Amino acid sequence: MKVSSRRPLVAANWKMNGSKSLAKQLENALVQADLRHVDVVICPPFPYLSCFEHDLKLGAQNVSEFASGAHTGEISTAILQEFSVKYVIVGHSERRTEHHENNELVASKALVALEAGLIPIVCIGESESVRDSGELFSFLAAQLDAVMDKLGITRCQDIVLAYEPIWAIGTGKTASPEQAQEVHQFIRAHIGKQDKHVAASMRILYGGSVKGSNAADLFGQQDVDGGLIGGASLDPDDFLKICQAAK
Ligand code: 13P
Repeated sequence: MKVSSRRPLVAANWKMNGSKSLAKQLENALVQADLRHVDVVICPPFPYLSCFEHDLKLGAQNVSEFASGAHTGEISTAILQEFSVKYVIVGHSERRTEHHENNELVASKALVALEAGLIPIVCIGESESVRDSGELFSFLAAQLDAVMDKLGITRCQDIVLAYEPIWAIGTGKTASPEQAQEVHQFIRAHIGKQDKHVAASMRILYGGSVKGSNAADLFGQQDVDGGLIGGASLDPDDFLKICQAAK
């Protein structure tokens, strides 16, 4: 039986999907449910942030490393905060790949978010070829070290980490609960080399083809503190099942 003092967190990453009507449907489903056991965060595309009227936790999918100014297409922490955003995803593999965000930039964005009072959800994760090459743990350690170096270990207690193996994102090929636990345990131990208290209190989410049908097994692992949900977060019924599985 799992014993953990960490409060579970389930975040919906809509990516470039959704609609105003889906925002309403999801909001209705969430406010009617009893979700006192879990923090639920909705990260829709920017314009839909203003569609959520109830007191739900909102997150953004990206933030600029700059405070303001001539950065066309970017969004600042201050703008996000005007829309009651409390969390921001940084370092998602899709941004690392499509927008060439490297470890250094991801760490800078995490720092900018923290300094503004936002909670960064920092994503790390390997491709299939990295896993196959036997470099899994050194690859993940480098991603973690960039963040710890930039933030300093003490500030890391205010971030959320998300382990998202790229080969499991949107593929229907979920990491097994054992595979997820192995990596989450490694992540906690790696952080624990710098500070055991920070490592023990940090929430580490799993992301990659989580559904209502597999969430309980994944979240039941000792070091898995919830999930970052893509496709299934677009289905209010399934997303609710996932939130309910985070006991
Ligand atoms: P899927 O749940 O669609 O696999 O996406 C996971 C993800 O990338 C969440 O950030």
